Amino acid sequence: MNQVIGTSVSRKDGRAKVTGSATYAAEHIIPGLLHGYLITSTIAKGKIQAIDSRKAQKITGVKAIFTSQNSPKIFKPANDYVSSKIYEARLPLSDDIIYYAGQIIGLVIADTFELAREAAHLIEIEYLRETPLVDDQRANYQEAILGSWLSMVGQEIKFQTGQWDLANAEITDTKLQATYRTSTQLNAPMEPHAIIAQWHNEESVTVYEPTQWVTGFQRTYAQLFGLATEKVHIISPYLGGGFGSKAFPWPHSILCIAVARQLGQPLKVVVSRRQMTANTGHRSQTEQMIRLVANKEGMLQSVEHEAKSCTSVVDVFTELCTAVTSAMYATPNLSLNQQLATLNIGTPGFMRAPGENPGLWALESAMDELAWALQIDPVVLRLKNETKKHQRKGLPFSAKHFADCLDVGAKRFGWSNRAAQPRSQRQGDKLIGWGMAGSTYPGSRGKSSAKVRLLADGTAHVLTSGNDMGTGSYTVLAVIAAEALGISVEQVRVEMGDSLLPDGWRAGGSQMTASLTPAVQLACQEVLKVAGVTTANEAFTALRQSGQAAFEATASSAPGAKAKEWAFQSWGAHFCEVCVDEELGRVRISRWLAVMDIGQVINAKTAASQVRGSVIMGIGQALMEESCLDPNNGYPVVYDLATYHYPAHADIPRIEVIFVGEPDLNFNPLGARGLGEIGITGVAPAIANAIYHATGKRFRNLPITPAEFMT
Ligand code: MOS
Repeated sequence: MNQVIGTSVSRKDGRAKVTGSATYAAEHIIPGLLHGYLITSTIAKGKIQAIDSRKAQKITGVKAIFTSQNSPKIFKPANDYVSSKIYEARLPLSDDIIYYAGQIIGLVIADTFELAREAAHLIEIEYLRETPLVDDQRANYQEAILGSWLSMVGQEIKFQTGQWDLANAEITDTKLQATYRTSTQLNAPMEPHAIIAQWHNEESVTVYEPTQWVTGFQRTYAQLFGLATEKVHIISPYLGGGFGSKAFPWPHSILCIAVARQLGQPLKVVVSRRQMTANTGHRSQTEQMIRLVANKEGMLQSVEHEAKSCTSVVDVFTELCTAVTSAMYATPNLSLNQQLATLNIGTPGFMRAPGENPGLWALESAMDELAWALQIDPVVLRLKNETKKHQRKGLPFSAKHFADCLDVGAKRFGWSNRAAQPRSQRQGDKLIGWGMAGSTYPGSRGKSSAKVRLLADGTAHVLTSGNDMGTGSYTVLAVIAAEALGISVEQVRVEMGDSLLPDGWRAGGSQMTASLTPAVQLACQEVLKVAGVTTANEAFTALRQSGQAAFEATASSAPGAKAKEWAFQSWGAHFCEVCVDEELGRVRISRWLAVMDIGQVINAKTAASQVRGSVIMGIGQALMEESCLDPNNGYPVVYDLATYHYPAHADIPRIEVIFVGEPDLNFNPLGARGLGEIGITGVAPAIANAIYHATGKRFRNLPITPAEFMT
């Protein structure tokens, strides 16, 4: 029966995107549209003393200027992950205190974007300056709290098993302790954050905005503006990436909707690249201590992992580096803890595999160091210490094939031919090194609904509020419907990203495919029942004969009882080759192999593309991406896509992606776990491990830039 699922299908939305006919939020043409430009703070800490907007007001076409002195009415939301969530927790313009550089302190409204921007720069602000704290090395770290994270991850941060004391270690045990750092990273999606809000007599509002969670934003805006949920209409069919930064609303959006209501005119706010560095999230820098003790056979006796990250003064976001550690390797003694400090910076947030990504940077680097210390092959060390259960959850893993990822990867890469010693492979004047690392990300899903309609013209129509953040969801849903209905992918039309459609859950935490595909499959089965037939072709014939327009059915799917008996996790292994020019400190990636176990693959083409995108993002993290703050004013010294370095085509080799494993049928009826995030985990340590093999030099701070190389 598996005819379409697992094959390679090109993107349904590909043509619309490359021809420009896909309309992104800021591109909607609305009559009478006004433009808002954000005024942002040029200091990182203090208070606004006076705002002089006389020059700005004289500009023809400027309609209004909003600051904390005339801030529009906004209600407080519940601000939890279940009913609503905003970043930052403080409502925009709610006081005249400055908490970080780039903070939104006003909004200028004008007839055109250019006029609004010009006026914004003419506004003179007098500050009472205080000395900001922007240096993470001087921050005051305290026991980390999850904040409202708790309701989402359902766990405490601190975790301990066994009663380990280093004094108990055998003389023959190998101990490894090291500290690893990651830098502040920006999500930097191609499509900047943007919103258009259009009110209808103050009674309801239409919002065009790129969001990873259509119905989540709908509920949150309903709370913020005192509306019934149904009175908020979110339209978000296309996103130019988000990587977590579009999972929850940020202040510019809240302000745009509030001001549009007050003005009684539709309003657009586009956030500039520079404004995005402070106002739409980032991945916090981390500092992580790992201590591993292993006996001479290479069995882990104890694993300790302590992490530090930073948040803003106005909200709590903990980069959960240690959450992944209890899933990764078996040990009788495990100790995990985190600390958090506040800085005068914008609020950090979710970025592709938050927690798992920096967490595995530290752990998978440390495992490599341990392997060298023990003189055990790093693949073998991982195989020896594989855990059958999730140690924190106390549940066995369902359909886990980590060992296959390692075995298949090692064979395919030719790992057994690896030179036994560092600095022993050369190509001309370059050093060559091979490295590998494990990869993992949890499998999660939420309650998701979809509608399927069979039409007399012989097509099927799938409708859901769930949307495609660029991952391939349009195509994946078409594949599921084609399979379930026995028709071609071309016969399926998919409509996504509109809050009027059945609640399709969110594109976050790698959950969209895992949540939505069972709902679509079920709706297909239901619609055939409604039609009283067993095949879609019979239904099409019946429609043509009766003159009826369509048969339709809506179905939902949610995690079942098995979710309490099993731990769900996707697995993978990355293998790479680096080519190092020691004189220039230049590292080039010359080969990449990713082997992934994600359960059932729905569309081989978009699945491999997700992993490739992740690997590219991981290469950027390892070698380039870094957002440093100016110690004087707290501003990121990078401010656009030219100053924020990430990979270009010439930096990336061919990336081979292989899928192994089996459908995880305890997880959902299709056995498909998500894969939006797993691909980036383990990429950076695989590169650092390869650089060690090439050069004999161990790098523990990301990114590994030429400058870092010279020190
Ligand atoms: Mo993801 S960081 O949950 O978009």
